[in-house]
Amino acid sequence: MNIGGTLIAGPAKGALAGRVNVPGDKSMSHRAVMLASLADGVTEIHGFLPGEDNLATAQMFADMGVRIEWLNSAKTSLRVHGVGLHGLKPSAGMLDAGNSGTCVRLMTGVLAGQDFASTVTGDASLCKRPMRRVADPVRRMGATVDGSDSGNLLPLTVRGGNLKAIHHVSEVASAQVKSCVLLAALYAEGESTVKEPRPTRDHTERMLPLFGQPVHVDVDGVIHLNPVGKLTAPAAPIHIPADPSSATFFAVAATLVPGSDVTLEQVGMNPLRNGWSRILAGMGGQLRLVNEAKVGEESVADIQAVYTALHGLKVNPADVPDAIDEFPALFAAASLADGEFLLSEAEELRVKESDRIAVMARALIAAGANIEEFPDGARIVGGRLAGSCTVDAEGDHRIAMAMAVAAQCSEADITINNAAAIATSFPDFVPLAQSIGMNVHWASV
Ligand code: S3P
Repeated sequence: MNIGGTLIAGPAKGALAGRVNVPGDKSMSHRAVMLASLADGVTEIHGFLPGEDNLATAQMFADMGVRIEWLNSAKTSLRVHGVGLHGLKPSAGMLDAGNSGTCVRLMTGVLAGQDFASTVTGDASLCKRPMRRVADPVRRMGATVDGSDSGNLLPLTVRGGNLKAIHHVSEVASAQVKSCVLLAALYAEGESTVKEPRPTRDHTERMLPLFGQPVHVDVDGVIHLNPVGKLTAPAAPIHIPADPSSATFFAVAATLVPGSDVTLEQVGMNPLRNGWSRILAGMGGQLRLVNEAKVGEESVADIQAVYTALHGLKVNPADVPDAIDEFPALFAAASLADGEFLLSEAEELRVKESDRIAVMARALIAAGANIEEFPDGARIVGGRLAGSCTVDAEGDHRIAMAMAVAAQCSEADITINNAAAIATSFPDFVPLAQSIGMNVHWASV
């Protein structure tokens, strides 16, 4: 996607060092504002990620009559004046999810519960991504979903109300699909269940009980939700931990650049999110956890990443959902590691903000890497990166940041076009990267 914004990233001028407080978790920020909007009462949220994706979710609720009170100019703290499960009003215009798959897919569940019609759209990248995975289950619950390609592509019009419970067996390991069904299930009569092919991030299941809605996971991993009929704002504020998906870029950069020692503070350590650290450790990476603590229902820790020579790895397919957003950064690491890195059963990467297998392969090959693509993964034989090239992030935030990390160990600069989407998940990436010594800056226009 042609969205502009050019990053110039070059070889690091020395070891990376320092402590970084990366911003709040994107997945949890979406869920916090959604549940708070649908609750009775006022919820205070701290550590909210003020990225474009999360602001799109907050704006959608504002468009449907929820008062969002920002408590600071950085938009990391807010008070949400919930309207209750049945208090949303139809928006005057289309709802706009921007670049955010999580926003649109979870909102499909929320909109399926409303007894009015809403039309939701997004940017050019989101308009190409598959929505049947959420349209189908909410249709089975009784909602109507219209859109092109039989309701697979945005814009989608969702007409809801009078939902029936569902026993959904998901074909894809997707937290977005699971969460869509759980949110719609809040409006249905009787118990709904979701079964996934592999467990995925469970932030929705962990956060719903804070709002008075129990969720039960049985011994087979099936998730059960029996709606109590309302959500209640928690008395205590919700604190959102630092986003492990953002922390990964700096942990990988510190692992790659000789002599580095970087600490990422109070990062979310949910086991269903830290596949990246297991994979990096499997490649020889040294990550030390200190100050382990609990924030609400989630665990956090400071992660200290130091330089280590990496080797290749055959990724265990069971780790794929837990690292699904971190493969661009891990591909950068693999292209600089010793030996072969093999990834399979990761076809979901082809339907993210871009086709992450193809776009990363094109960018890394331009920089001098040795990569072979497969429909469901890739084989990367590590070595050196010459750099001295221009690559296209194609409007995908994580490709832009991963190539900026790769450039720290390339032999010459890499120019990264269409990188402005960094603002969707990590608006402060460049200044924070510079603060630990990474060689990266925006090209002046
Ligand atoms: C997310 C789930 C994942 C992930 C996305 C955030 C979420 O998507 O890639 O960035 O917050 O539920 P899928 O559910 O499509 O795997």
